Formats: sequence, structure tokens, C-alpha cells
Amino acid sequence: MKIVVGCDHAGYDIKDAVIAHIKEKGHDVIDVGTYSTASCHYPVYASAACEKILSGEAELGILICGTGIGMSIAANKHDGIRAACCSDCFSARLTREHNDANMLCFGQRVVGIGLALDLVDAFLDATYANSGNHITRVAMLKDIEEGKL
Ligand code: RB5
Repeated sequence: MKIVVGCDHAGYDIKDAVIAHIKEKGHDVIDVGTYSTASCHYPVYASAACEKILSGEAELGILICGTGIGMSIAANKHDGIRAACCSDCFSARLTREHNDANMLCFGQRVVGIGLALDLVDAFLDATYANSGNHITRVAMLKDIEEGKL
């Protein structure tokens, strides 16, 4: 798969290790920045990553900020993006399987590098269930975006 990765200054310290890990798993990576610890604004990088998914250049994405929360709020403003802020592997797996999440967010100030890489594994190794009520509910998320619900 092609995976887009983005961060702000508060996620920068672990971004390169996350990217290296994703590549070791056999995936290609698009790095949309940021590229230093200089203070910046997470919505910029969330939007850059979402654009890669919505254009079809990337299938899934990983966003890292201090908490993961700002990135997930910003990403979920984009129609077609289903972002989940996770700090446990069960949620990271289930958000792929049940919500068809296409963006995983986590916080460098919340998780250590070990858990961060496990979250990436849980998310990227899982598959959307694509059945029954999961299809209905994910379609309802689209209805919300279109003002129908
Ligand atoms: C930056 O200080 C911090 O607010 C940001 O990385 C993120 O945690 C926001 O949700």
C-alpha cells in the first residue's frame, strides 16, 4: 500500500521511526511534513495528508501531533476521511475493521515509540469487514457529510 504520513512539531521526533517501520513492512510512504521541530500548525499537515488520500495517491494515512486529537479533528473535517485517534491497539485494529478508518492519529506526548509502532501495525494489518451493519453505518457517515442525516 501507499501510506501518507504527516506530523506537526510535537510529533516530529517519532515520525522518521514510524516511516522507517512502515517501509520495513513493505509499504511505500509519502511524507507530507513537517520536517523539523519548529513550531507549526497541525491543520496544515492534516489537510496535506487528507488530500493525498482523497486524490487516490495514498490508501491510508498516519498523523502524529502532541495528543493526536488536533490532527484527528482536522482530518475529520474532510469529506471522505475517517480519522481515529487511538492510544490502544484494539481500537487501532477495530477502527479499520468496523469504521473503515483511513487515517490513524496518535500523540507523541501520549504514546512511546514502542506503542506507536504497535498502533501502526494494528491499523495497517487490519482489513475493513465490509459486511452487514458495518456497511450500513459507514454509509451513514457519508450521509452525515451530505447533510442527509
Ligand atoms: C502542539 O503544542 C499541540 O497542541 C498539538 O501538537 C496537538 O497536540 C493538538 O491537538
